[in-house]
Amino acid sequence: MAKLIVENNGPLHGIVEISGAKNAVLPLMAATLLTDEKCSINGIPDLTDVFVMKDMLTSFGAKVKAEKDDNGISRIDVQADDITNIRGSKELVSEMRASTMVMGPLLAKCGRCVMPLPGGCAIGSRPIDLHLKGFKALGVTVIENSDESVISLVTYAEGLKGDIIYLDFPSVGATENILMAATLAKGTTVIENAAKEPEIVDLANLLNKMGAKIKGAGTDTIRITGVDKLHGAVHTVIPDRIETATFMLAAAITRGKILIKNAIPGHVRPIIAKLKECNVDVEIVDEGIYVNGANKELVATDIKTLPYPGFPTDIQSPFMAFLTTVDGESKVKETVFENRFMHVNELNRMGAKISTRDREAFVHGNTKLVGAKVRATDLRAGAAMVLAGLVAEGVTEISEIYHIERGYENFTKKMKNLGAKIERVVEEGDKVERHVGI
Ligand code: UD1
Repeated sequence: MAKLIVENNGPLHGIVEISGAKNAVLPLMAATLLTDEKCSINGIPDLTDVFVMKDMLTSFGAKVKAEKDDNGISRIDVQADDITNIRGSKELVSEMRASTMVMGPLLAKCGRCVMPLPGGCAIGSRPIDLHLKGFKALGVTVIENSDESVISLVTYAEGLKGDIIYLDFPSVGATENILMAATLAKGTTVIENAAKEPEIVDLANLLNKMGAKIKGAGTDTIRITGVDKLHGAVHTVIPDRIETATFMLAAAITRGKILIKNAIPGHVRPIIAKLKECNVDVEIVDEGIYVNGANKELVATDIKTLPYPGFPTDIQSPFMAFLTTVDGESKVKETVFENRFMHVNELNRMGAKISTRDREAFVHGNTKLVGAKVRATDLRAGAAMVLAGLVAEGVTEISEIYHIERGYENFTKKMKNLGAKIERVVEEGDKVERHVGI
């Protein structure tokens, strides 16, 4: 298995360019199934999850071409004019939960699909009941097989019919799946208590370019007037706000100075606010976001994860790594996922003093981190381990880094460019592994 070896090399300095957003690109790719015409998506990040989605689209008969232009920016062209299969691969769904994002487009386009259920994962049992609730309201019959590992979804003979759907929780995936399905439904669909993440807005922008009639994306009420047909479109994915926040924290934890280019400040407001509470200087400049962790004594703060525009759960673990290094006690409350403190044990192995009770973690600041053998217990926890390794005394060896490679493009290279001492080591006989995704 490949590993990352990280050593403290002092404060990070320099410029980093943010890649296209993983969580935006996956639904954008799924949306291309909705039309027979060619769609092109630019700014695709080079990530394992993107390749899983590419394999998924291909498995349905879509023609997918991935290309790089002169600037090195990847583009994906998809043409789904001949869908020959509506059965999702068990292997691909088990590798990446977001592959269930194809359900909405397949139902809208083909009237049915068969999907293996994604099952639980490291950060809690993650059901898809809200996706199914939405589909049922649009007229889909859900048939579970006896061992409940596969579901068949079938629409009315005349297709999907719009309705009012209230989500009990503003689930990102459920909002995206229902949004895509509703574009081709008869009549109007209203999603109430919808997720408001920037990735939802990006998806709605692509769908509207394809001829859909969507209003209100980015608010808690999205209104979709169904159309008969969608057409091809060209779109560029938004920058990754979680990668942006991770590099903001890299500057903060190493007390360095990093200019983050191709970042949208409005997408990382809670991170800017919380870093400022800790005394980190954050400036919005013409080129992006400038973070300076070197100016003052840094102090503790409390964080509570929430759906957007609240503090993102995906930055909870990297922020916690940072909080171990500042003065004072911090409380971290996780409200989005039921079991997202797996990184606490790993940080404690590095000398952190963090205790947990239910969904709260109590971080004792100013601890001296020391290098250890730790695991990337999920994608973002992997980033947290790298951040901790950047300031720990001695050598930090991070295993299970396939998690990191699912979601961070060229992470090692970008870190090295900023002065980090980090190496990806592959031992002889290693094979590439792909695992369940967030
Ligand atoms: C997406 C992101 C992930 C991020 C998460 C929350 C992608 C590919 N992944 O995941 O990085 O951490 O949003 O910001 O975009 N839930 C239900 N029933 C459902 C659906 C969700 O109970 O049908 C629960 C989940 O178990 C979880 C919470 O709702 O506790 C949030 O899940 P959701 O917003 O759906 O996250 P994902 O779309 O899976």
